[in-house]
Amino acid sequence: MIKIRKGVPLIDQHDKDFLYGGKFGGNFIPETLKKPIDDLASLFSKLRKDKKFIEERNHYFKTYIGVPTPFIKLENLTNYLGGAQIYAKVVSEANGGAHKIYNATVHCLIAKKAGKKFIVGDTGAGYAGKMLSMAAKKFDLKCKIFMGAKDIKRQRPNVEAIKKNGAEIVPVYTGSQTLVDAVSECMRYWVSNCDTTHMCVGSTVGPNIFIKICAYSTAQISRELFKQVMEEFGKIPNKLKLINCVGGGSSAAGFWNEFMDTHAEFIGVEAGGPKNSKLHAAPLTNGSKIGILHGAAQYVIQDKEGQIGLTDSISAGLDYPGISPLHCFLKDAKRAKYTSATDEDALKAYKLVSELENISPSLEPSHAFSEAIRIAPRLKSSEVIIVNSCGDSLKDKDIIKQKLGSYVR
Ligand SMILES: Cc1ncc(COP(=O)(O)O)c(C=O)c1O
Repeated sequence: MIKIRKGVPLIDQHDKDFLYGGKFGGNFIPETLKKPIDDLASLFSKLRKDKKFIEERNHYFKTYIGVPTPFIKLENLTNYLGGAQIYAKVVSEANGGAHKIYNATVHCLIAKKAGKKFIVGDTGAGYAGKMLSMAAKKFDLKCKIFMGAKDIKRQRPNVEAIKKNGAEIVPVYTGSQTLVDAVSECMRYWVSNCDTTHMCVGSTVGPNIFIKICAYSTAQISRELFKQVMEEFGKIPNKLKLINCVGGGSSAAGFWNEFMDTHAEFIGVEAGGPKNSKLHAAPLTNGSKIGILHGAAQYVIQDKEGQIGLTDSISAGLDYPGISPLHCFLKDAKRAKYTSATDEDALKAYKLVSELENISPSLEPSHAFSEAIRIAPRLKSSEVIIVNSCGDSLKDKDIIKQKLGSYVR
């Protein structure tokens, strides 16, 4: 049985081989990347202990990202469903409209410290790309974003934002033309350009250092939520559920981090895909085997030969065959539970939440809302559910209009 060490930050729970729980993560990388990855890891390890760097990070989190983001009670939804009290951490109020801005900002700060002038990154839903292009512009870095051709078509508003910020979009036509291929192409590009270029991986995936930087950055979400919960309830409620969607896993890791050593329950919601399809993007819920993807060992959707399997989800941000080694670790340690919601469940949840409340979650967090809506009526009114509303729906307006007939925000 895998054990979580109390008082040790989640990102540092690995062993000497960078494996979480002795089997997830690691650095399965080509020899040419060993030095750049070691250099980045030693720079990050210095920076995270450096008071000046922490001050600088906090300064930009406050004045650029606009933290703290709101923590609100969803009174109408709570009354409509009966049962548990439902709250939202409205991370979509962060500059740019989603949590991806934390990781992008920290990566740009690190790239500057490393003396790099170029930065590259992957994107699925377009938020990681939008935020990296925004932060690159702010910190005067030249930026390239790798994005699958299928995602370029379905996430038009974010594609336009990336272009407006002056970044180059590199369309990826290989494989399923989605996030998994974008990450692969971005890593391939970095192998040949790592002397001049910094790479930002858009989620808690990839070789260990990228998982660390990303979860370190999104941890801001739970640092402020912890205080907001204490202000609202005077303590951690006896029965508290923190529900988050899970694609690569960066928003969930950041949402749970500060609560790791408390009794709060964690529920991660993967993409169940279309209702009547065998395809999904839910490796943890569907018992996928361990494999290597993007330089790390993790549960990954694969075919009989062990090749990466096909996925399908209405949510470009969740449409990924792997999952962060951090979540594989939390699942096997039984610290978090994972479930899935279908495309149809997410659309229904989006509709209900946006009609009843003054928030408009994108299709990724709508998966998390779907789980909250499903379980809330069965719980007592003394129980509390908090959903991470980690992204705004604007990027999904075309899909929502097509599926629900109209899009009102
Ligand atoms: C709004 C939003 N939520 C969630 C995700 C899923 O990513 P992660 O699991 O890394 O938070 C994405 C990915 O693009 C996203 O844009």
